[in-house]
Amino acid sequence: MTAAPRRLRKAVLPVAGLGTRVLPGTKTTPKELLNVVDRPILSYIVEEAREAGIEHIVFVTGRAKQAIEDYFDHQIELEAQLEAKGKTDILQMMNAELAEAGEMSFTRQMQPKGLGHAVWCARDIVGHEPFAVILPDVIVDSQPGALKQLADVYAEVGGNVIGVEQVPETETHKYGIIDPDGDASGARIRMKGMVEKPPRGEAPSTLSISGRYILQPEIFEILATQERGAGGEIQLTDGMARLMRDQTFTAVKYDGVTHDCGDKIGLLRANVALALKRPDLGDAARAAIRDLL
Ligand code: UTP
Repeated sequence: MTAAPRRLRKAVLPVAGLGTRVLPGTKTTPKELLNVVDRPILSYIVEEAREAGIEHIVFVTGRAKQAIEDYFDHQIELEAQLEAKGKTDILQMMNAELAEAGEMSFTRQMQPKGLGHAVWCARDIVGHEPFAVILPDVIVDSQPGALKQLADVYAEVGGNVIGVEQVPETETHKYGIIDPDGDASGARIRMKGMVEKPPRGEAPSTLSISGRYILQPEIFEILATQERGAGGEIQLTDGMARLMRDQTFTAVKYDGVTHDCGDKIGLLRANVALALKRPDLGDAARAAIRDLL
């Protein structure tokens, strides 16, 4: 009898990038704390992780990112003022997303050498157990959350599980693209390879790796020796492609809409899409957008 997959408890959130695509906003504010409607991108991401059963979040941070650590802690003066003004709704909302004591760890990448390197920096805190990676500038609007959808598949099949979505053929050179092993029409796809930013016309499919992963800890040993790849960065995709020689990888086409908030238009689109869906703001947002158009 095969053993059940080991329980998924930890998630790595790499937040050490420079966010150059949304400068100058990210000069002093971490990209991950930019607002989408009325809360930071990271607030959506941490909610998604907790919904998937994650008990410990490891942030891989860099310089000028201290505000991330503070965001999940008490702000005693502000809380006292809100209390005094009777603004209990917002106070409750803020308290609900605070970290539990010991729930979050922070480690430094020192230099943004690429996503693979950022994940490797979490090796000692994660230890020898499976873990999730969530790109904290990608919001997936879905019910249940994208990581929960992956975690449900992982509980059945084990191994490594990666979230993917369909992209136009003309766009494949911008993403990590998977190479399906046989039929790719279903929601779960066996993989036989993957490639980061394939040259135009050479992509093995139109399924892009979109920022949600469940990985086995052996990836750390591989990342330790991973050389620089596309864009001169140590790529997680290259490390995963090596791990695939020994372990299974399943791609999951999760149900949901992906917003890349690390890009100006993606961030704008996320704001519009999520404001339109909000019961308390949707009508006003629609009226404002109509007015502008
Ligand atoms: P991106 O490439 O989207 O982020 O990486 P970036 O480098 O900040 O953005 P641009 O291209 O300069 O605008 C996806 C996620 O991985 C993190 C980023 O913080 C981002 O959340 N990352 C990336 C790291 O933590 N370290 C790195 O070396 C690279």
